[in-house]
Amino acid sequence: MALMEICIVLVGIGLLVYKWSTATFKTFGDRNLYFEKPFPFVGNMGASAMQKASFQKEIAEFYQRTRHHKIVGLFNLRTPMVQINDPQLIKKICVKDFDHFPNHQHFISANERLINDMLNVMRDQRWRHMRSILSPVFTAAKMRKMFTLMNESFAECLQHLDTSGSSPSKNGFEVDMKGLCNKLSNDVIATTAFGLKVNSFEDPKNEFHQIGQTLVFSRGLPFLKFMICLLAPKVFNFFKLTIFEASKVEYFVRLVVDAIRYRKQHNVSRPDMIQLLMEAKKESQDNWTDDEIVAQCFIFFFAAFENNSNLICTTTYELLLNPEVQERLYEEVKEAQEALNGAPLNYDAVQKMTYMDMVISESLRKWTLAAATDRFCSKDYTLTDEDGTKLFEFKVGDSVNIPISGLHWDDRYFPEPSKFDPERFSEEQKGDLVPYTYLPFGVGPRSCIGNRYALMQVKGILYNLLLNYKIEASPRTTKDLWESARGFNIIPGSGFWMHFVPRTKIDVVGTYQTG
Ligand code: HEM
Ligand SMILES: *[C@@H]1O[C@H](CO)[C@@H](O)[C@H](O)[C@H]1NC(C)=O
Ligand SMILES: *[C@@H]1O[C@H](CO)[C@@H](O)[C@H](O)[C@H]1NC(C)=O
Ligand SMILES: *[C@@H]1O[C@H](CO)[C@@H](O)[C@H](O)[C@H]1NC(C)=O
Ligand SMILES: *[C@@H]1O[C@H](CO)[C@@H](O)[C@H](O)[C@H]1NC(C)=O
Repeated sequence: MALMEICIVLVGIGLLVYKWSTATFKTFGDRNLYFEKPFPFVGNMGASAMQKASFQKEIAEFYQRTRHHKIVGLFNLRTPMVQINDPQLIKKICVKDFDHFPNHQHFISANERLINDMLNVMRDQRWRHMRSILSPVFTAAKMRKMFTLMNESFAECLQHLDTSGSSPSKNGFEVDMKGLCNKLSNDVIATTAFGLKVNSFEDPKNEFHQIGQTLVFSRGLPFLKFMICLLAPKVFNFFKLTIFEASKVEYFVRLVVDAIRYRKQHNVSRPDMIQLLMEAKKESQDNWTDDEIVAQCFIFFFAAFENNSNLICTTTYELLLNPEVQERLYEEVKEAQEALNGAPLNYDAVQKMTYMDMVISESLRKWTLAAATDRFCSKDYTLTDEDGTKLFEFKVGDSVNIPISGLHWDDRYFPEPSKFDPERFSEEQKGDLVPYTYLPFGVGPRSCIGNRYALMQVKGILYNLLLNYKIEASPRTTKDLWESARGFNIIPGSGFWMHFVPRTKIDVVGTYQTG
């Protein structure tokens, strides 16, 4: 008898959970918008949620199937989103009528320290204000100075490669590119954002690296908690869960707060984020809390860590698959080195490498790191076509999806999308790009604030790597990245393995001489 009752209760709970998991699925039918049949819990995002495909691939395929509709309903797990497939409409929503869609979706729990103070999470007036204060922090002039901190980490990375490849063989050695780039990203963030010089190549167990790794929310426990937070924010808040451990967050807060105090006391200055934020704060006359300042440094973990390191990986991966592109880039890098005449690499020399820029642009096209971005409707809005036809009535609270990877893989805008072709971004062809189809850093007033920083880091390290090594495939190199990548990151399950062959003549003692 008891068993019977338990069964009934279980079935009851099961039904409730099922009902909850599908509760939002009627939306688009009711509102007359085309959509594809969603599945419980995962909506239209089954393949990436179950780790069967990358987010990029799933978004691109959904877009491919639905691109003949200018707008389409998408269920991102349980969240209904209005996906905009048409470039002109993207411009309308993200630029022209930005006032109606000034924010991202509210997605993170209320009790998380720092997160709600980060620029990308801030909303409305608070966002507008902080964005205007931070914009001057990311200008070319500031980046030029910051580059002089980054270059130290590049040198340490090269030193590490030199010693790890020092069993003097002309044939080179195998490198776990992802591991290498994670260390580099870590050290570059430490020095440019937190004012702390670390060398993870020599000391991989340093505190900053270890604690930082627990904060990279795209994997491990934080990722799991993040998914729960996405799926069931109320449950998350009810149990007062947080994505990050309080003690780990405290470590970074102390770093920044102590650095600020020390610098004020000792009148020292260093061209990093802390310095720039101190200056910005002075100019704006605001009363920022410690947390508000630290949060802006903290962004680097979310925005820069994986993205910058993945961009280096995908670019070098394409270079090993396309030796003629690599050779041409090597020529440019060599010219840049000669032009420097023995001086260390600087920001302006990096900016001058035009082919480098084409290669990175194409890499960001094919392997876009943000598969999509979102907007949140905060004022009712009627979306109309050029000829005035009504397309959709947005209500406050509706979410918008911009299918970046769909656009980047659309053969109407990028013929042969799976082909890696930097010429798409050459001086002659750049003009042919259809506006609002190439959005690696998002679009409009809410677009990425750190793109200069990202590009300078990636170009800087590529300069150093290519000058010294020829990058080739190793037996463990992924054959098909598009098929083998999973989840939010474009990383093959087995890692990014590559083979580095020194570009140098080996002299008698077995040490390398660059040149
Ligand atoms: C290759 C590297 C990067 C890529 C591909 C990337 C991409 C993006 C994208 C797609 C967005 C959303 C834009 C939109 O919704 O229109 C964004 C926003 C943002 N990114 Fe990046 N990003 C990168 C590196 C960085 C770095 C290094 C920083 C350093 C601070 C950064 C800081 C931000 C911030 C603060 C926002 C939010 C801006 C706002 O809401 O006003 N990103 N990024
Ligand atoms: C980094 O740049 C600074 C400023 O240009 C220079 O003094 C320093 O020697 C460079 N370091 C390396 C390792 O190239
Ligand atoms: C602090 O440094 C600034 C600029 O370097 C200088 O003008 C000022 O005199 C210094 N103040 C003290 C107390 O040393
Ligand atoms: C900042 O704080 C000071 C003292 O705590 C106060 O007098 C001032 O009005 C505050 N300024 C702003 C902009 O809130
Ligand atoms: C890349 O940056 C965007 C924007 O800041 C962020 O939403 C995304 O999570 C980042 N990607 C990774 C893999 O960290």
